[in-house]
Amino acid sequence: MSKPKVLVARAIFPETIERLAQHFEVESNQADEAWSKAGLIERLQGKAGVFTTGSERIDAELLDACPDLKICANMAVGYNNFDTDAMTARGVLGTNAPDVLTETTADFGFALLMATARRIAESEHFLRAGRWQKWAYDMFSGSDIHGSTLGIIGMGRIGQGIARRGAHGFGMKVIYHNRSRLDAALEAECKASYVGKEELLKTADHVVLVVPYTPASHHTIGAAEIALMKPTATLINIARGGIVDDAALALALKERRIAAAGLDVFEGEPKVHPDLLTVPNVVLTPHIASATVPTRKAMADLAVDNLVGYLVKGQPLTPVNPAVLAKN
Ligand code: DGY
Repeated sequence: MSKPKVLVARAIFPETIERLAQHFEVESNQADEAWSKAGLIERLQGKAGVFTTGSERIDAELLDACPDLKICANMAVGYNNFDTDAMTARGVLGTNAPDVLTETTADFGFALLMATARRIAESEHFLRAGRWQKWAYDMFSGSDIHGSTLGIIGMGRIGQGIARRGAHGFGMKVIYHNRSRLDAALEAECKASYVGKEELLKTADHVVLVVPYTPASHHTIGAAEIALMKPTATLINIARGGIVDDAALALALKERRIAAAGLDVFEGEPKVHPDLLTVPNVVLTPHIASATVPTRKAMADLAVDNLVGYLVKGQPLTPVNPAVLAKN
């Protein structure tokens, strides 16, 4: 019997391709060419599965043009590149890569918070530019992490990981806002108290965003929300571009309405709002929160396990639209 065909949309670990090749006829993109939508559709002809990285948009137009497609396996926990309604309506399963990146991403969220509040990137650029002539009492004074109030918007697994780091490691007071409140045991473990969004924005010294991107979470933080924050506050976005209104943030940073921001994700990335590039009080990183070798390998492995699980064994591990399975 011939093997099912799968497409790997982006360059990936060679061992990931080798694992896939044990079960599938694989077309890969190890040159990491930027395929247009039409190019992706062309390559998906006859493919039962696609390995995506989170940047390939899977929508009704693509699905209608690719009738053989049964599963899209994202190597990412976020799956806002999937139109899940369109996929479910056409019986196409989507899977993501949760859990395996939680602690790595929480580490990064905390690192970005530290770098932002303590002005590490800004001071490093200053030093490299040869501008350090003498010590000064107020040189790159930032704000404290220890003992301060950490506000987390989005208290899923990664948000909880950041809360634990802040509360247990740095003695921070942790407040959070989420669609639903955590149960009491989890709140106690994270030493976190539930508050309304407005109270969080008004009282937190550091605000960290970890909400999934949906139309409802678009511009969760815009000019009005920034106006509620303390002028000494920092804002960290490791969630998705579009959760923050980047233009409003750039203006607020320029006018010092908040102290600083740390951003790993951007509206329309890899493009970055040009005004963000001109303000010094922002740390900018290129969507690397989950980027350690073991974690990226674990994410790739989970995407492979989902493709094999569904197309070979009939049972995926982490479906995002399980209604498709119920229909089968
Ligand atoms: C994710 O997994 O959603 C991260 O943003 C990496 O893409």
